[in-house]
Amino acid sequence: MRLQKTAICKALGDHPWSSLVQVYDEVDSTNTMLKAMASEGAPEGTVILADSQSAGRGRMGRSFLSPEGQGIYLSALLRPKCQPQELMHLTCAVAAVLCGAVEKITGLRPGIKWINDLVAGGHKVAGILTELSLSASGVDYAVIGVGINCNQKPEEFPEELRSIAGSLAMAGGKQVSREALAAECIRAISTLQGTLMTDRLALMERYRRDCVTLGKRVLVQKGEETREGTAVNIDDWGALLVDFGNGPETVLAGEVSVRGMYGYL
Ligand code: BTN
Repeated sequence: MRLQKTAICKALGDHPWSSLVQVYDEVDSTNTMLKAMASEGAPEGTVILADSQSAGRGRMGRSFLSPEGQGIYLSALLRPKCQPQELMHLTCAVAAVLCGAVEKITGLRPGIKWINDLVAGGHKVAGILTELSLSASGVDYAVIGVGINCNQKPEEFPEELRSIAGSLAMAGGKQVSREALAAECIRAISTLQGTLMTDRLALMERYRRDCVTLGKRVLVQKGEETREGTAVNIDDWGALLVDFGNGPETVLAGEVSVRGMYGYL
């Protein structure tokens, strides 16, 4: 069944963002679409959801598989009045609040793989892609993109992704209502409207609590170079501190991908 807007809005009740939710059968990318709308003046709280994406995007130019009827592909618009460097923790803040949303609807508490993946059952079940647009005076808008694998079976992932990707249904053993979870994700993201800047330290503390990367041996890949170290901490802006043998070094999310020594985690 296609994603049902009425069920999402019913679950949102009188939430102020309910009237700003738009649901489509298929778009190229909800992030791309919302960025275009934001440039045309769409208000804070505008949310785009699609039943499928033909060109879903992830971090570092990767694609995000977005088959119909299976997942949540959602983008939400914030217009924080600040400078871009004050939003370094945005992706982490989104991950922190989404863990609560997933737990509330499914009973499963996901972990966070630094920096933007939610994991459950040993697999990636969700990814976050945040994108900023700047004006002369600072941040014009932030688009928060969230993709969640809800109801796929293992064999429905392409073979080359099966060791990495999974779904909430695989991890929890039962089907997930995409509409109920989408509404809870919207609620969770909307809390950042008030707390993103004021509650940064608390949000980062929540992030660290759920982060499964901490304490692990990791491979840090930047361009052609791969280094092995131990992930020892995450600072209050979301940077990973990795000890490569000479004490902690700061690793910024920008161009870097991190994976475990023995596989994705
Ligand atoms: C990642 O895994 O690196 C992030 C994936 C983010 C995917 C979501 S799906 C909704 C939104 N639209 C996109 O094109 N990407 C994000």
